[in-house]
Amino acid sequence: MSDGGAAGRMLLTGIAELVTNDPAPGRDGGPLGIVRDAAVLVEDGLVTWVGPATHATERLAPRHEREDRREAEEHRTLWDADVEVVDVGARAIIPGFVDSHTHLVFGGDRAEEFAARMAGRRYEAGGIRSTVAATRAATDDELRARLAGFVAELHSQGTTTFEVKSGYGLSVADEERLVGLAREVTEEVTFLGAHVVPAEYADRPDEYVDLVVGEMLAACAPHSRWVDVFCERGAFTPEQSRRVLRAGAAAGLGVRVHGNQLGEGGGVGLAVELGAASVDHCTYLSDADVAALAASDTVATLLPGVEFSTRQPYPDARRLIDAGVTVALASDCNPGSSFTSSMPFCIAVAVRDMGMTPAEAVWASTAGGAVALRRTDVGAVRPGARADLLLLDAPSHVHLAYRPGVPLVARVWKDGAAIA
Ligand code: NIG
Ligand code: FE
Repeated sequence: MSDGGAAGRMLLTGIAELVTNDPAPGRDGGPLGIVRDAAVLVEDGLVTWVGPATHATERLAPRHEREDRREAEEHRTLWDADVEVVDVGARAIIPGFVDSHTHLVFGGDRAEEFAARMAGRRYEAGGIRSTVAATRAATDDELRARLAGFVAELHSQGTTTFEVKSGYGLSVADEERLVGLAREVTEEVTFLGAHVVPAEYADRPDEYVDLVVGEMLAACAPHSRWVDVFCERGAFTPEQSRRVLRAGAAAGLGVRVHGNQLGEGGGVGLAVELGAASVDHCTYLSDADVAALAASDTVATLLPGVEFSTRQPYPDARRLIDAGVTVALASDCNPGSSFTSSMPFCIAVAVRDMGMTPAEAVWASTAGGAVALRRTDVGAVRPGARADLLLLDAPSHVHLAYRPGVPLVARVWKDGAAIA
């Protein structure tokens, strides 16, 4: 099978099941908009046509400006010559994963802390400070090399769009360096200077918030698209969090929130109040939180890797979906609470333990992530979207949950070019 390419034309055909996330009459799978025995035409990095494979040759002919379609049919090889035809062999294609929540710029790891948790210790926000020390001690090149390794890991597991947060620097210079490094690998950079209060400000948290909303935000906003805060016991109060988010919004950044991870807290209420694009974790929710989310445009982003590796109870996706909340899944890849970059793993856990169907989990990992990042160019396979596609070594999207732990990523294209 050939690789395709960003420039030019590529016809993917022989697709047993195409998940488009673009429902239309005649398509199955509700929001997944499934087309069976499908083909996809990619031109100059964009999807330009989607439909039944049997109609694909029809679609190809016009580019050659042949007035006489019959002549085109008779000279198939002529008009086939400038399109690379890739037969994927009766397997499934879904949109590339959109991982809307990661913390990938850091030094060191916390394997010992994980082992201690598995022996019974609780997860606490304070562990973040040990990664802050390791990150400050690392050089730019060390952090850059580590980040490049994570990006390769994401791509090889089918992720084509990903967000990266700062938050392990917690000084003006270190946060600026982290958002700058993140910006080298993604447009979706989030300033998380308010991750925890660093040790040197331990007894004066409000002074730290002053720094975050002042000099630190001014240094980081030019490299960032989003502002985020960890609104939680042991991190920032709702009042402190509100200050940070309002300042970020005033600097032109979109709002995201870490909330309701370790207890009910006020994170969800604050996110809805400020019109955040997403509130992430949502592990402990009151009925009022669920109702507020359902009445808002704020996405609830669930992070199954966190509960897996902290042994907290899983968030109840079923409750949220049944209430009408838009749910996304993301990896939260970070060295403390969730050191996985695998969206297939998150899907398998969400289906097994969070009440999601395979279809809901696949939607939440692709289209849901796109909504959480307010993106309309990714997360779906439809004309005009970026050609970010994931070929599975399986006949259907269900296998992502049905075959946990099995490498099912056969090929990944980003903007029409093969990246894995
Ligand atoms: O999303 N909750 C806050 N931040 C990260 C954890 C970071 C860490 O433990 O290092 C999270 O889970
Ligand atoms: Fe996080």
